[in-house]
Amino acid sequence: MKGKDFKIIIPRRELQKKIKELGKRISEDYSGKEPILIGILKGSFIFLADLIRVIKVPHEVDFMAVASYGQEIEGSGVVKLIKDLNINIEGKDVIIIEDIVDTGLTLNFIKKNLLLRNPRSLEIAALLDRKERRKVQMHLKYVGFTVPNEFVVGYGLDLAERYRNLPYIAKIEGSKLAQRRFEL
Ligand code: PRP
Repeated sequence: MKGKDFKIIIPRRELQKKIKELGKRISEDYSGKEPILIGILKGSFIFLADLIRVIKVPHEVDFMAVASYGQEIEGSGVVKLIKDLNINIEGKDVIIIEDIVDTGLTLNFIKKNLLLRNPRSLEIAALLDRKERRKVQMHLKYVGFTVPNEFVVGYGLDLAERYRNLPYIAKIEGSKLAQRRFEL
């Protein structure tokens, strides 16, 4: 963290409290069902790991990974699938798990892709919603926190692959790299 200013905006305790609440809501809403939780790699893995440990209904977990087609057209909504599900979701209740929603372009692609497979239902759980950056309207059934239009790291979120391990969400200031990534 040398030379950077990390300011904690969501401490560990608040994250854990919110995740418990989300787990309770999901457990109630999916009572009698067996949802499939789909983590979008990589950022969601820590949120997903904590969330499933507070969900009381039986469920399955799978992962997908997507990537944008090159930085020059990032933000264009052109996304490619780089890791598909291993399980069939036809007729199943599916919850997409995201760490953060910005423009909504990633989720828009994933949602359309998954709907073609005819799940019984499809909802989204996002730990963070940076809604000021939204380009595509997206209904997020479960949201942990709305965050301001600032670069954040920790709890799965990275800066050039670092800081995913921080047990809190922090604002990162004084980093030219963060600034560049954020302006894309
Ligand atoms: C982040 C996040 C979402 C996406 C949201 O992933 O996990 O998948 O960006 O952005 P959008 O709403 O503007 O589409 P990122 O590309 O940073 O990859 P990572 O999860 O592997 O860190």
